[in-house]
Amino acid sequence: MGDVGSFGGAGSGSSGSRGAAGGAAGGTGRGGTGRGGAGLCDGRVVAVTGAGRGLGRAHALAFAAQGARVVVNDLGVGLDGRPGPDSPAARVVAEIRAAGGQAVAHGGDIASPDGAASLVSCAVDTFGRLDTLVNNAGFLRDRMLVNLDEDDWDAVMRVHLKGHFLPLQHAARWWRAEAKAGRGVAARVVNTSSGAGLLGSVGQGNYSAAKAGILGLTLVAAAEMGRYGVQVNAVAPAARTRMTEGAFAEAMAAPGEGEFDAMAPENVSPLVVWLGSTASAGVTGRVFEAEGGRITVMEGWHPGPTTDHGARWTPSEAGEATLKLLAATPPPLPAYGSA
Ligand SMILES: NC(=O)c1ccc[n+]([C@@H]2O[C@H](COP(=O)([O-])OP(=O)(O)OC[C@H]3O[C@@H](n4cnc5c(N)ncnc54)[C@H](O)[C@@H]3O)[C@@H](O)[C@H]2O)c1
Repeated sequence: MGDVGSFGGAGSGSSGSRGAAGGAAGGTGRGGTGRGGAGLCDGRVVAVTGAGRGLGRAHALAFAAQGARVVVNDLGVGLDGRPGPDSPAARVVAEIRAAGGQAVAHGGDIASPDGAASLVSCAVDTFGRLDTLVNNAGFLRDRMLVNLDEDDWDAVMRVHLKGHFLPLQHAARWWRAEAKAGRGVAARVVNTSSGAGLLGSVGQGNYSAAKAGILGLTLVAAAEMGRYGVQVNAVAPAARTRMTEGAFAEAMAAPGEGEFDAMAPENVSPLVVWLGSTASAGVTGRVFEAEGGRITVMEGWHPGPTTDHGARWTPSEAGEATLKLLAATPPPLPAYGSA
């Protein structure tokens, strides 16, 4: 399952040799897509997880259109993460090559150590390097908390949280070695959170927890990896994909002819491409919402009203003081689906 290209699934190891990009990955040999002119990502090698469809596909095509050579990862699973029938990464690679770009398919499970390791070795062995990692793969198992099976909790935490951590760690090790060898590193990681992680979402306790965890991971990775020349940011997208077109059919509806298709996944990719390019130098540890033509900088937790008793409270005193603080604090934004 999911073994879609010259790089296979978890533990398949690598093929091809360092720098042998032209033969192994096809394309024009200049990394462009026949668009002419300089691309924002000329010369860069970008790995996008879950890039066989939806947002990841749009990101992969957008990076290729800006001159990047792209590792298109996808395990090819169903909406709920269970084995799927097809190999969507190969189709995206074909699209990129047809446009004159360079890409290679990787069919590994990015939430497994072997799949994450071979994602990085696929980039390095095929194209000679890795510059940008876009962590995007994922799926849903929505249930109210009282009905959520342990398996649904574990599967969603695994694909999103471990599926971000493992590729990030393997890429970081490669970049750290590059930096220690004295080779300049201008690496970028773009993680994928969600409004569910920022505000919570009814029926998505597992997904909201995983996507909130990705925000914490982003902050720590940005703080730890800056010394190696690595910037780490996160986006919380909204777009019409198989993940949303059923549950949010009305909000995701396609527009009338000639109108701006605000929910097209391609609208999210320009910010992701810019964050994944050297043009975003100095931007790290940030979280952005991206949807349609809108980009929003999300402001994280910061201290609000505070009081200091200078001694231990009794529970009643603590409660009284807390109610006073809350009276001086704006109410939180509601969780999605709670209104
Ligand atoms: N669509 C939205 O509005 C929206 C909103 C917020 C967040 N997101 C996030 O954006 C990302 C992309 O979602 P999408 O809407 O494009 O969904 P999608 O289902 O269209 O695409 C996700 C892809 O990830 C792949 N995948 C799943 N598990 C994998 C694994 N272990 N290894 C490799 N590939 C795997 C799937 O095969 C699929 O092709 C997800 O992380 C999702 O949670 C999407």
